[in-house]
Amino acid sequence: MERGYDIVLFGATGYTGALTAEYLAEHSPRELRWALAGRNVDKLEALRAELAEIDPDRPTPDLLSADVEDPASIRALAAAARVVISTVGPYAEYGEPMVAACAEEGTDYVDLCGEPAFVDRMYVKYHTIARQTGARLVHACGFDSIPYDLGVLFTVERLPEGVPLHVEGFVRAKGSASGGTLRSALGAFSDPFEMKTAARERKALEGEPEGRRVRIERGLPRTRLARGWTLPIPSLDPQVVVRSAAALERYGPDFGYGHYGAFRWLTSALGAAGGAAGVMAAAQVPSLRERLMSLRSPGEGPTEEQLAGGWFTVHFVGSGGGRRVHTLVSGGEPGYGATSGMLAESALCLWQDELPATSGQVTTAVAMGEALIERLPRAGVEFEVLRTFEE
Ligand SMILES: NC(=O)c1ccc[n+]([C@@H]2O[C@H](COP(=O)([O-])OP(=O)(O)OC[C@H]3O[C@@H](n4cnc5c(N)ncnc54)[C@H](OP(=O)(O)O)[C@@H]3O)[C@@H](O)[C@H]2O)c1
Repeated sequence: MERGYDIVLFGATGYTGALTAEYLAEHSPRELRWALAGRNVDKLEALRAELAEIDPDRPTPDLLSADVEDPASIRALAAAARVVISTVGPYAEYGEPMVAACAEEGTDYVDLCGEPAFVDRMYVKYHTIARQTGARLVHACGFDSIPYDLGVLFTVERLPEGVPLHVEGFVRAKGSASGGTLRSALGAFSDPFEMKTAARERKALEGEPEGRRVRIERGLPRTRLARGWTLPIPSLDPQVVVRSAAALERYGPDFGYGHYGAFRWLTSALGAAGGAAGVMAAAQVPSLRERLMSLRSPGEGPTEEQLAGGWFTVHFVGSGGGRRVHTLVSGGEPGYGATSGMLAESALCLWQDELPATSGQVTTAVAMGEALIERLPRAGVEFEVLRTFEE
């Protein structure tokens, strides 16, 4: 089907959307036909004027008006694009109309959703429709969950085939949250019952991979860090990793993944555990949730100085079939600097690269895999093998 645009960026006026627009204006191929979309055309005009200064010789994107409250505008936007990028969040509040429209129009879709219940609900409602239309719906194309999903794929590809495999990931990061992220995280934690219900409904539809076992390891890690302390992280990331493992035979007949935060000092580990528990508890009390949300407004995010000082590392230790591999994924400021590059490269990858035939709700490893790993150094995200041991 002929479409007017290769990529449409919906939510371009937000904090992360604007960074993603800057990345595309700087790094995308000149032949890219793209547009910025949002509900406020004045804000879009102002953003386009800033982008024009990045490279005055490059054609600027078109502007499209679309509002989540106006379903026809969302449908028209999905029909006009080959790939939609959505940074309109919290996704539980605003995300569904665009996922629905892309599924129905057969349009590829990427977002930054780290809200587990939303991803599960979208699977239940739109996976089958997207399988019929050929749309690839890829959530979590940022710091949630690309470093883990692709880092584990990268590690597994260096282990023997057809044997049980075990991988552990240890993340360290420095960064801070935007107003949009704060709202999304507090919203996701506010209703544990909804999270469990959505997960159960998804599981009933999705089932288990035939003849293979994949699971999230929840206990203590097998790997002992030379210096430091670890804590399991109950985020969307390990769920994404095991979905990739369920879909790809390469992860072997029996695959386990453990996902941990790594801390140099016991006091930092205890502080992080206490802070996360406090935020989860506060998220369930409306007045406290409102108070936490007021710490940063929508549209606000880390300063340029904070962006410049941010970084992340994820060490993976994979073992199986007599081999052990230690790999590393690393990059700049995780939540917005590296994230905007990862999101833009995901969209460019779906648009331009030769990829395996997939459709429906798919992970980054399943939809893009090696092609996206090759692209990510342009966004400052590196994948390295540190050591391989034969045991
Ligand atoms: N997981 C990760 O790695 C990661 C990293 C970064 C961000 N995120 C997620 O990305 C999302 C965006 O974060 P952010 O900080 O960029 O948020 P933000 O600055 O508040 O931006 C939200 C965007 O949504 C738009 N919007 C709101 N309501 C709308 C509506 N009814 N119709 C159309 N557009 C609407 C806003 O438009 P206006 O400008 O007109 O208000 C704005 O463009 C959040 O869910 C956050 O959690 C995830």
